[in-house]
Amino acid sequence: MDQHNTKRHGIDTVEMMDDMTFVLFGASGDLAKRKIYPALYNLYIEGKMPHALSVVGLGRRPYTKEDFHAIIRESLETFSRRDVKEENLDEFLEAFRYFIFDAMKTESYQDLKAFIEERESERSVPENRLFYLSVAPKLVEPITESLHESGITNTAGWKRLIVEKPFGSDLHSARHLNDELTKVFQEEEIFRIDHYLGKPMVQNLESLIRPNPILSSLWNHEQIANVQITASETVGVGTRAGYYDKAGAIRDMVQNHLLQLVMMTALHHPEKLTPKQIEEKKKAIMESLRPIDENEMPQHVVRGQYEAGEMNAEPIPGYLEEDGVAENSNNDTYFAARLYIDNNYWKGIPFYIRTGKRLEKKSTRIIIEFKNEVEEDEDAQGAVSNLLMIEINPNESVGLRINLKDDGNEKFEPAYINFSKNLDAQPEAYENLLNDAMLGNSTYFAHWSEVELSWKWVQPILEAFENDTLPLHGYKAGTDGPEAAEKLLNEDGFTWW
Ligand code: BG6
Repeated sequence: MDQHNTKRHGIDTVEMMDDMTFVLFGASGDLAKRKIYPALYNLYIEGKMPHALSVVGLGRRPYTKEDFHAIIRESLETFSRRDVKEENLDEFLEAFRYFIFDAMKTESYQDLKAFIEERESERSVPENRLFYLSVAPKLVEPITESLHESGITNTAGWKRLIVEKPFGSDLHSARHLNDELTKVFQEEEIFRIDHYLGKPMVQNLESLIRPNPILSSLWNHEQIANVQITASETVGVGTRAGYYDKAGAIRDMVQNHLLQLVMMTALHHPEKLTPKQIEEKKKAIMESLRPIDENEMPQHVVRGQYEAGEMNAEPIPGYLEEDGVAENSNNDTYFAARLYIDNNYWKGIPFYIRTGKRLEKKSTRIIIEFKNEVEEDEDAQGAVSNLLMIEINPNESVGLRINLKDDGNEKFEPAYINFSKNLDAQPEAYENLLNDAMLGNSTYFAHWSEVELSWKWVQPILEAFENDTLPLHGYKAGTDGPEAAEKLLNEDGFTWW
């Protein structure tokens, strides 16, 4: 067991990391190469790994141990934020073994069990097993069931399960999936990844306000005019039409990432919270999220789809022209909505959320707009509302917009104070998440209550999309999205920042 002195979550404890086996389903997949191996390597460099570790990578391709090590090496050289150091690479790789495996063949699980046990004995690892399912969603249920039936999850130590999104495709399927998983793993043993929760700036949100009295004194509904959450992307559907054309922005980004950002922003607390309290508060926020009534949906929800346009002076095809997209697809590549959280804290303050593909800029940000009480004041000409700007991606920064007199000392002009983080020193989301899962800390994972309540909120909107009762607004690739999304704020006297 290794000790880590850490205060990352604001919890002053020495976190203990047990020795373990990390069983990775999908070891030759894209996510493993882009994110998982680099994250494990960077944790290793920082000494955030157990003393005794066995990593068993599973995949159908017939790789040897040497092939597998070469794949990991290449992944680190291509994607790690740190340069690979030759002197300790062999020690790192020694923990990794590959096992040729077909997840749908139940008989192969007995062989897998024997292999895991053999490595446990070789590396003196107790029976603590972390299963990471980096696989197609349809495989999650059968794998979990076979892990159970083969006795692999019947360990003398602990067991944990990491699952990627999407967690279901609607309320019904998410409930079904959860029922199946909880036959084998307890809720505390399930770590549902939402990679937005691993982003350092998102993890900062929870602790940004409390130690800053200039912010905490303003953090109430008398001072805040609105909250705006944007996750805009420049990429299009790319090669993922098979998945995306059925999912749309609402399942791909809103049900998970955007609603998690809403929860994390609304998570106000004057005192330090324990992980359990954070979980309960997030659940309470989702319970207070006002459902959007079917009849009022057109007033609060905007869905859009990109059309041909131009980006960086290059022509960009429209969504319907993309490979693999159904002819006449009315899938949403853009989503915006007005939300209300009906608790004492946020009552009456609109939260505007939006996300889309093929927009002008890649940017994930949260803007808190404060009320502008001097708007009508003759002596305060030019004064605009103050903004607190939290940029999550691609830069990580916190900024304030204040009013300062212009050079002629005549009228006010907005001035910006900005603090940017050094990106090179920031851990990747997957490093934070893997480290937490290995420690057994589920604070920054999507708990079932949050997932279920998010689907519940989203479900009537999914139905409206399916029944085509909402207009589908076109927007040109490379622009800021449909005009209807502007109107959503203009009606309330605001604009998007
Ligand atoms: C993923 C979505 O979860 O998040 C993608 O499936 C999207 O469609 C991505 O592009 C955005 O993540 P990030 O970290 O680049 O904002």
